[in-house]
Amino acid sequence: MGNVAVIGSQWGDEGKGKIVDWLSSRADVVVRFQGGHNAGHTLVIGDVEYKLHLLPSGIVREGKLSVIGNGVVVDPWALLKEIGTVTEKGVKVTPESLKVAENVNLILPVHQKLDAALEAARGNSKIGTTGRGIGPAYEDKVARRGIRLCDLAHPDLLKEKVTNLLLHHNALLKGLGAEEVSVDDLYNELIAITPKILPFAAPVWKILDEAHHDGKKILFEGAQGLMLDVDHGTYPFVTSSNTVSGNAAAGSGVGPKTVGYVLGITKAYTTRVGTGPFPTELFDDIGETLGRRGHEFGTTTGRKRRCGWFDAVMVRQAVKVGGIDGLALTKLDVLDGLDEIKVCVGYDWNGQKLNYYPASQVAQAEVTPIYETMQGWSESTRGARSWADLPPAAIKYVKRLEELVGSPVTLLSTSPERDDTILVQDPFFS
Ligand code: IMP
Repeated sequence: MGNVAVIGSQWGDEGKGKIVDWLSSRADVVVRFQGGHNAGHTLVIGDVEYKLHLLPSGIVREGKLSVIGNGVVVDPWALLKEIGTVTEKGVKVTPESLKVAENVNLILPVHQKLDAALEAARGNSKIGTTGRGIGPAYEDKVARRGIRLCDLAHPDLLKEKVTNLLLHHNALLKGLGAEEVSVDDLYNELIAITPKILPFAAPVWKILDEAHHDGKKILFEGAQGLMLDVDHGTYPFVTSSNTVSGNAAAGSGVGPKTVGYVLGITKAYTTRVGTGPFPTELFDDIGETLGRRGHEFGTTTGRKRRCGWFDAVMVRQAVKVGGIDGLALTKLDVLDGLDEIKVCVGYDWNGQKLNYYPASQVAQAEVTPIYETMQGWSESTRGARSWADLPPAAIKYVKRLEELVGSPVTLLSTSPERDDTILVQDPFFS
């Protein structure tokens, strides 16, 4: 029995919420290790729906320890608001049940202002960010001028850091024609929030080390997806963190061997929000149908998701780069009733055949998919709970995807309901 990391293998929105919830019911500790409140994980427990953005999914289950690791960027106001929302639904969040890494970097209102001003300045090449200030906060972290949660305990140091931070950003905001931010205002806002947020600060690496040694089961909950990884994704149309499983270790303060089994959440077709290349994107009725049936609207921003065929080349790359041991395939039922289904098995780049997704921004935009066409099925797969419930053509589709991407499907989700899942292998016992 080991620990499990869950990551998205496409452009996010693969349906991680349901799978993570299912796994978190089996885990003792649930850890977020990257991203911030740009994520959106929907959980349905009984009749209650929770939309979590920053809180680890374990929070809605009593007796689980929820951890926000150092690799996350935390907007303290958004965190408190989210705590308020789940508290209203009866969830108890205390400094005992939620630990936030004391060395986590904070997202400040100035980061959201910068996110908006920089996107506006990008014009046609905008990234389509979630506007949550994620990128500017990570920039400050690597530039070593970020404000960390532990800094709130030291008002003099905090004042100095806020002053330095705004010296830099006000020059930028001015250049972008945006309103500048006052040192006193930001400092006072941080001082005001300190008593509410600082009690959650903890040496997360130490807590996780102890939990691991006590034989507790740890679930590392990734956000976004591999193709949004700042190194391995469709740069620059990516988020600002590493979404690969390797970051589960660095982003929470454990060694790589602690991470354990890596489950890659994969949608049976492809979606993307925001701008950037998408070789298998569909602009026809089938694309519209997938979007309508799959309810493809962002949890965080409500934006309509772009839809397309399954891209086996991209997912194969995600399996390798992300160290994925098994796939959780979601939303197979959205493909029900299609006469035929296409799967991208290679790319054509100006007459050259490629069996991987190249890094060049130019090539990423220019490749065209080489498709294999498979027979569809007319029967419903929705709610199937065993392989015997699936039509032969659907089984053939799943088996072909396994072959093409080089990873077994260990879990198949056939509806948003928790129990509509076909379990081939329990990741905690792999
Ligand atoms: P940012 O993370 O807000 O900087 O946005 C960068 C890119 O990542 C944009 O294309 C967003 O749409 C995308 N993105 C960020 N978070 C998510 C997510 O949770 N699901 C899907 N796409 C996301």
